Amino acid sequence: MAKFTLPKNSVIRKGKEHKASGGAARVKRFKIYRYDPDTGENPRYDIFEVDLDDCGPMVLDALIKIKSDQDSSLTFRRSCREGICGSCSMNIDGTNGLACTTAIEDLKGEVRITPLPAMDVVKDLVPDFTHFYAQYASIKPWLQTVTPPPAGKERLQTPAQRAQLDGLYECILCACCSTSCPSYWWNQDKFLGPAILLQAYRWLADSRDEMTGERLDDLEDPFRLYRCHTIMNCANVCPKGLNPAKAIAEIKKMEAERVL
Ligand code: SF4
Ligand code: SF4
Ligand code: FES
Repeated sequence: MAKFTLPKNSVIRKGKEHKASGGAARVKRFKIYRYDPDTGENPRYDIFEVDLDDCGPMVLDALIKIKSDQDSSLTFRRSCREGICGSCSMNIDGTNGLACTTAIEDLKGEVRITPLPAMDVVKDLVPDFTHFYAQYASIKPWLQTVTPPPAGKERLQTPAQRAQLDGLYECILCACCSTSCPSYWWNQDKFLGPAILLQAYRWLADSRDEMTGERLDDLEDPFRLYRCHTIMNCANVCPKGLNPAKAIAEIKKMEAERVL
């Protein structure tokens, strides 16, 4: 019989409980994953009670309040507070999303917050994006041309050509989709995952790019592209309403049409 041994620090322990100040009428409990690899201790869940009458409406507001009032060591990423930078992606009650655009009132009961799954944890809610960014760099996410632009002019597109980029350019590289994809959990060493493949299609769909053949050559691989099994978790969680699975299907179609 197969026997699995989990790493020593895979067990999440019960942590500290931080009560709301006395007199708080609307208290919400947040159960937050804490981990600091430098301590050598196992991860733990800390409970923080937040007075919703003294807190902004979003999950990120609660995290900022907790850090400011209860535990300054709580570590998470954020920047824009309006769903543009992609920094505050995390798992909220079992679903990947942006803390800054997730309303607390939409979450029932105690809210559990963990880092994005299937990534190493740097500290608390901060995952390590090193591999994700290396995969992004691997698809050469910039306009590649061989012919010079028209003298003194930009490379123009028709409105219809420009419209081909809708649903692609809006991606904020938050990784909510990739880290919710079972194929990515199991094969992220080789499978590019939905976010990076959506970005790959963004350049394949760009009428100005002149490296379509080379880009398709790079993606034609049993793992880099074809590990997508259309499970659709990616489209279900994207906080920008994008559909990476559709972009992946478009790449597969381009590969198939090239062979015919
Ligand atoms: S559709 Fe493909 S990329 Fe999206 S979650 Fe499923 S397997 Fe992953
Ligand atoms: S496709 Fe959506 S979920 Fe995936 S990285 Fe881009 S914005 Fe985030
Ligand atoms: S803080 Fe920028 S997307 Fe949430």
